[in-house]
Amino acid sequence: MLQVDFANLDASRIGPDRGVEWARELEAAAPRLDAARDALWGRVGDPDAMLGWVHLPEATDVLRDVQRFALAQEGVTDVLVLGIGGSALGAKALNAALGGEGARLHFVDNVEPEPVAALFERLDPDTTLVNVISKSGTTAETMAAFLLALGWLRRALGPRWKERVVVTTDPERGVLRPYAERHGLVTFEIPMNVGGRFSVFSPVGLLPLALAGVDVAGLLAGARMAGTLARADAEGNLPAQTALAQYLAWRKGQRIGVLMPYSSRLALLPAWFVQLHAESLGKAFDRSGSRVHAGTTPLPAVGATDQHAQVQLFREGPFDKLVVFVRHRVADRDLTVPPEEGLEELSYLFDKSLFRLLSAEAAATAHALAEARRPNYTLFLDRVDAYHLGWLLQHLMWQTALLGELWNVNAFDQPGVELGKRYTYALLGRPGYEELAAELARAGVEP
Ligand code: PA5
Repeated sequence: MLQVDFANLDASRIGPDRGVEWARELEAAAPRLDAARDALWGRVGDPDAMLGWVHLPEATDVLRDVQRFALAQEGVTDVLVLGIGGSALGAKALNAALGGEGARLHFVDNVEPEPVAALFERLDPDTTLVNVISKSGTTAETMAAFLLALGWLRRALGPRWKERVVVTTDPERGVLRPYAERHGLVTFEIPMNVGGRFSVFSPVGLLPLALAGVDVAGLLAGARMAGTLARADAEGNLPAQTALAQYLAWRKGQRIGVLMPYSSRLALLPAWFVQLHAESLGKAFDRSGSRVHAGTTPLPAVGATDQHAQVQLFREGPFDKLVVFVRHRVADRDLTVPPEEGLEELSYLFDKSLFRLLSAEAAATAHALAEARRPNYTLFLDRVDAYHLGWLLQHLMWQTALLGELWNVNAFDQPGVELGKRYTYALLGRPGYEELAAELARAGVEP
């Protein structure tokens, strides 16, 4: 189960100026939330609406192909995943939480030479699979890493390099698809109507995760639950409810959204969410062309670690944050803290389970914030497993799409990111970008 405890949003606990009368607000907003849901579901069939992610959890044929490919990779000990942004962050977060049974995944999602060189030195090309992932098939960072990886494989393996490359890209666009076809490389498709940050349950995430031994079928089963709830009316529609909570907080001036899982295994989840939320919702104009400057600033945190870093600020700093905790109810393994003679002052810990301590810390922090009139709510998973993480990630994608409707912005484009990519091409002398290069030169911009 995925459940939400909204009690610490309530004005009765945290005061009317910061909190909301949650039950009343939800009832009042229900027609708007239902309309947002209907608008999204109404566009699902439109290929230009970029809502293909809604149906990814049901794509059993893709699941079968990915699993079959992964099973056939006998002898592969390591996978070099070349991708950036939406082509890396989901698999990275889920691998950190659930990986370990299969091949080791190594993500190249930056172009800093030292770590990239170290990876090529450390890995054995004979037992490493290179999975290049790019929806557009043109992103400079990924393409540079791919060119380097090709050289590395060719030098070590000669003509066998082709057995060690798998390409995940758009069915039509970009340079990767024709290159893969020319060389007979294995390819997987990112559906045309799925954008990078919504693609974790396409082969973008599923393939490396299957190779890492993650229960990818479980991920999709959980993700389907989020879709089921996203069809419900507001009172049973969990993604609509958390979207409303975020939206109301923004209206009250809480313009920073903290995501704080109480789990080291989920430490990379906020990084995935940061991209999803920031790139989807940080928009200057709404669909009618009016200035809106939508979006809250997503801020990653991890409990209990950040209790000793950021929580001081969350409690006593500016009244500008909504803190969202992610907790799990059951630990898969636990440890009991042993007693020790001479340390009786610590007896409150003796014979307690470590998970009980973690849970107490989460509950204490949520209350400490509420008591200081800082709004927060908690997403509860039963446990940290594929099913619940699939559910959580798809829930957050639905939340993002619904927030796009509430702000009336296009949550599926990223003009700011595209502009940065075009400037990079111009600075590096890519043909076709001469005019932009001249503009940058006039502005004194140099690499
Ligand atoms: O969400 C997005 O669209 C972006 O963040 C992309 O994932 C990122 O820019 C990488 O693009 P691509 O997969 O085309 O290489």
